[in-house]
Amino acid sequence: MTLSTHLSAATARTSAPSISSLMKLALERPEIVSLAAGFVDQQSLPIATTAHAAAQILGDEPAGRSALQYGTTIGDEALRAILVERLEVQHGVPPGTYRQAVGRTVLTTGSAQLIYLVGEALLDPGDIVIVESPTYFVFLGPLETRGARAIRTPIDEHGLQIDALEATLGRLRDEGLLEKVKLIYTIPEHANPTGISLADDRRKPLVDLVRRWSEKAGRRIYLLEDSAYHGLSYDHKEGRSLWSLDPEGETVILARTFSKTFSPGMKLGYGVLPKALVDPILALKGNHDFGTSNFVQKLVRLVLAGGEYDRHVEHLRALYARKCDVFVEALERYFAPIRDRVSWTRPNGGLYVWMTLPEEVDAGFDGPLFARCLAEGVIYVPGEFAFAPEPTAAPRHHLRLSFGVPDEATLAEGARRLAEAVRATLRPAPDE
Ligand SMILES: Cc1ncc(COP(=O)(O)O)c(C=O)c1O
Repeated sequence: MTLSTHLSAATARTSAPSISSLMKLALERPEIVSLAAGFVDQQSLPIATTAHAAAQILGDEPAGRSALQYGTTIGDEALRAILVERLEVQHGVPPGTYRQAVGRTVLTTGSAQLIYLVGEALLDPGDIVIVESPTYFVFLGPLETRGARAIRTPIDEHGLQIDALEATLGRLRDEGLLEKVKLIYTIPEHANPTGISLADDRRKPLVDLVRRWSEKAGRRIYLLEDSAYHGLSYDHKEGRSLWSLDPEGETVILARTFSKTFSPGMKLGYGVLPKALVDPILALKGNHDFGTSNFVQKLVRLVLAGGEYDRHVEHLRALYARKCDVFVEALERYFAPIRDRVSWTRPNGGLYVWMTLPEEVDAGFDGPLFARCLAEGVIYVPGEFAFAPEPTAAPRHHLRLSFGVPDEATLAEGARRLAEAVRATLRPAPDE
């Protein structure tokens, strides 16, 4: 007799990450140009720096033993202190200004774990998270697991629209749902999937708005600032973090990672948390893993302290700026005949371009464009995954294009193949 498995309600609600099949496809068919996965440039991964730091740790017996032992759940104190000092330098404040934040800084297994834990700490079924439209699609998975409702709020070329967020909150209040709103999730730097950054003059108003609505709700609404692409501004200008604009430190949760600026294989991220969330998140993290890889933390501490990290990031900025130029120029070239019907973002940092096609084009996995792209030998992430399911069905005419991995010649070829596929899929314009 075959007995059935009764999964938990949370597991039953959970679907597999939307792009797993794309990653498999790219591995199985190496001739395909993948503009899909958000991986980093393979050639630039810091092998020598990492080997040197690992040798330094393991060459010293006490340091080596300590690194190979379990650490603490919150993470290496010296590393946390360095991270907070770097926040002080970034924001041009005197040393020691953010000292209190060291005890509120938690090292995590990638920033993915941090944002997952935030969802786990805050959300019950039916709770509401407001996310940008579009947003980082992977975060929608944990929300689904929690049974939370993800509701979209619009962005424009300057990032999240403050007035529209106010309107979204007002609508939820009018529907009697304000008390369900627990979290607003934003990616203010070179966002995944659009490459767009939040304008400087929207940053303080955003933090103030969330604080004001917390008061209206009579309980805390948190603002989760996911700055996974922090450091990758091509022009060196990094915006002020929202976290630094929250003087009481009670509203903004800052999530950062070393994945994009050093190595995703290290899988080291961190969060700076409002006081009320530190113990709950540490309790949950303790149950997950009792602490992130101690060895990785010691290694990253060394490369930060020795200056190698900053030199590496400097190199990456130039590298991705060049790749972005090559890719966008190739898009301009190959899409020229249909330029009036297709648009895309021009990021000044990060790894993504967001393309918009005429509304009638279905860019989903089972739509005609994806099939045509497979025939041409190029893949992308269908933009529909990046839209939360509410308030209306996800639009299907966008594409996320990632230029981190392919070399310059392959990026140009990817743009050519994509343009061929789009041209073949588009209905002729009325006057053609
Ligand atoms: C916006 C955003 N947040 C978080 C992550 C998670 O990265 P990691 O867990 O490697 O730090 C990613 C990875 O692509 C991302 O794009």
